[in-house]
Amino acid sequence: MAGKSAALAQPDLSGLGGLLDSLAPEPATPVNSILIPVLQAVQERYGWLPREALERVSRRFRIPLSRIYGVVTFYAQFYLEPRGKHTVRVCRGTACHVRGASSVLSTVEQVLGVADGETTPDLLFSIETVACLGTCFLAPVMMIDENYYGKLDAAKVRKVFKEYKKGQRARKEPAGRKKYSRTVEQ
Ligand code: FES
Repeated sequence: MAGKSAALAQPDLSGLGGLLDSLAPEPATPVNSILIPVLQAVQERYGWLPREALERVSRRFRIPLSRIYGVVTFYAQFYLEPRGKHTVRVCRGTACHVRGASSVLSTVEQVLGVADGETTPDLLFSIETVACLGTCFLAPVMMIDENYYGKLDAAKVRKVFKEYKKGQRARKEPAGRKKYSRTVEQ
């Protein structure tokens, strides 16, 4: 998924060698069978898959880089650009569409200043659209990380982000101050 507005800052890959060593398969294991778990582990460590990391995976496990890119670009779970700390998923399924999903998405894009598929320059949020979040009764719905926000309109979307950003600040403040609580909004 692209993140046009996010800077392509390269992460420190100094720990990658050790990670790849820990993922080395038993001698008889077909190397192709470990490719996806290896890519998942690398992405979990760095948040995305920098080219240099993929080149090192290629060398370490003797898998052609072209095959690795084939896998990475096939599966939506892999990211070739930095991701925001929080993923915002806006549902565009039928139930949400008829109840105003377009307005929800455009408000999210307005509030965050980036479009669907992009990441904010501060690497805080990435926006995605999905076919159905499985909570059609709450349409229109979005998720931020694991939290659902339902029956949205533009005003409610703005409020959610206002509180989310307030929560971000609260987390940075000393203990004892009010902290953001994870809720299911309806
Ligand atoms: S269509 Fe949006 S949650 Fe199902």
